[in-house]
Amino acid sequence: MSGFFNFTKNLYRMKVIIINGPNLNLLGKREPEVYGSETFEDYFNQLKSKYPSIELDYFQSNIEGELISKIQEVGFLYDGIILNAAAYTHTSIGIGDAVKAISTPTIEVHISNTFSREEFRHQSYISANAKGIIIGFGLKSYELALQSFLLDWNIFF
Ligand code: DQA
Repeated sequence: MSGFFNFTKNLYRMKVIIINGPNLNLLGKREPEVYGSETFEDYFNQLKSKYPSIELDYFQSNIEGELISKIQEVGFLYDGIILNAAAYTHTSIGIGDAVKAISTPTIEVHISNTFSREEFRHQSYISANAKGIIIGFGLKSYELALQSFLLDWNIFF
């Protein structure tokens, strides 16, 4: 029941960041029939208190270059990235290249089942370079991604 590893003499806390792309700041208000009625801040705070031994951070931007810069910034430091690039998933070679360039494993997530929606949402520039993909479980997609990292690290809750 611990996320703490004893690497050499120091206790190490696994670091995971959730990175959300454009319009995900509107969760709760935006198309609730597709994305639900909970704000991401509320969901994120619940997740943080459910997994207190993981250092969990959050970043959101509506700007492609800011997302790329954040991926570069954390991509050699963090133990895991959970990335919902939202609409940029389907358009951004730059974000796909950033995920390819870094060493931190990245899990691509989507709240909705993009394959049951418009055809342009079936394409992803991220998937090929992601560790894995979790799609269509509502906000729970993020927790499932987190749990898959925890299983990799033998952290059981
Ligand atoms: C989304 C799916 C994308 O197609 C869409 O542009 C989003 C959200 C999802 O989480 O379901 O903004 O990434």
